[in-house]
Amino acid sequence: MKRNIIVLGCQWGDEGKGKVVDLLAKEADVIIRFQGGANAGHTIETGGKKFILHLIPSGIIHPGKICYIGNGVVLDAFGLMEELDMLHTEGIDTDGRLFISSLTHLVMPFHKMIDEYEEKKRGGCVLGTTLRGIGPAYRDKVARCGFRLCDLFSPERLKEKLADYRETKAEYFIDSSDERGDIGKVYNDLMNIAPKLKEYMINVPIALMKHHNDGKSILFEGAQGALLDVDHGTYPYATSSNTTIGGALTGSGMSPKFFEDIVGVVKAYTTRVGEGPFPTELKNETGAKLRDIGSEYGASTGRPRRTGWLDLVILRHACRINGVEKIAVTKLDVLDSFEKINGCIGYELNGRELSEIPLDPAELGNVKPLYKEFDGWQSETTGIKNFARLPVNAKKYLKFISDDLGVEILLVSTGAGRTATIMV
Ligand code: IMP
Repeated sequence: MKRNIIVLGCQWGDEGKGKVVDLLAKEADVIIRFQGGANAGHTIETGGKKFILHLIPSGIIHPGKICYIGNGVVLDAFGLMEELDMLHTEGIDTDGRLFISSLTHLVMPFHKMIDEYEEKKRGGCVLGTTLRGIGPAYRDKVARCGFRLCDLFSPERLKEKLADYRETKAEYFIDSSDERGDIGKVYNDLMNIAPKLKEYMINVPIALMKHHNDGKSILFEGAQGALLDVDHGTYPYATSSNTTIGGALTGSGMSPKFFEDIVGVVKAYTTRVGEGPFPTELKNETGAKLRDIGSEYGASTGRPRRTGWLDLVILRHACRINGVEKIAVTKLDVLDSFEKINGCIGYELNGRELSEIPLDPAELGNVKPLYKEFDGWQSETTGIKNFARLPVNAKKYLKFISDDLGVEILLVSTGAGRTATIMV
């Protein structure tokens, strides 16, 4: 295993990063989450149990691995406590195995209230956020009025900051019956969990460098996907963090010179939750079939995901920005019963053919996808252990993807469990 690997989603999130990280974590010593927050839901199925983690790196399921939450994450401290309780109930020990950057911004209960308020105010132009307070927390970070983990340990300063916030953002606090906006309660609740949080607080860049110098390997676990990146995604229908490679650097404090591999996670078809353009979306029976077979419902919100064919144009974009050299193709088995499978190789926009995303990604809402059609393989791929044993048409489809993107296939996932994997 190469040292210091970054795992990134190449579509609109929900590519199956949880499983890929879980597989790679076996070989790594350290796993770090570097952006996003409890909007993510990373699912790992092992030993007949299913774990959904929103904040804690998926690597925690592996005994002995050290996990970090980097400064780029926005942390719902109360959600973290629930996640820790869940892990402890399942017999997973986190003592001395989980650390959090002192610089991590907190998602406060009122950030969720603001998220909801703003979505309501957008009327017909909702973004379809997860309502987890992600946008408001990142906005406060950039506006330099956010709350960081280290603030909990200067209680007087925190109290003043909270009062100041409440005053300057009064328009959000009009519903006095919503206790998420009760600053006094928020303060007291935070003070109650602060001693517990202190045990996890650390200077992450120092810790990571020490691991690196000790010869350990570090796995960087991305959340969401490239097309949700606040800069490179389908803005404003995006999340509020950099889900592409830059986020791994700023969100962890590790220099790019230490990274050795970048793995892109690509679902064998495409899904998206929330609003925004989706050129290959199938609003028909085929789309419903993909949703049913693929159990395409949000791990965080339970919302049904929109579904469609694989889109090579967005994948080219994601692989270029991230410098992806290897991909993990997930959920290949979902396509097992399809007679015909399509891959979008370009778009038509106003009578012109495009092979890359338009200058204004909003135009993705107006493009017509141009497809290459493949014969399906119509046989079960789950359980196949060796790439050579895959049906010929499945291999053709996978070769088409790797050739088009100019990347190697690292692994193919054919089911939720760890064992339903073909290492290539
Ligand atoms: P937010 O991150 O909650 O602000 O939501 C912004 C957009 O990103 C919405 O369309 C969400 O559905 C989408 N989103 C956020 N996190 C995820 C994720 O983990 N998987 C898929 N979509 C996500």
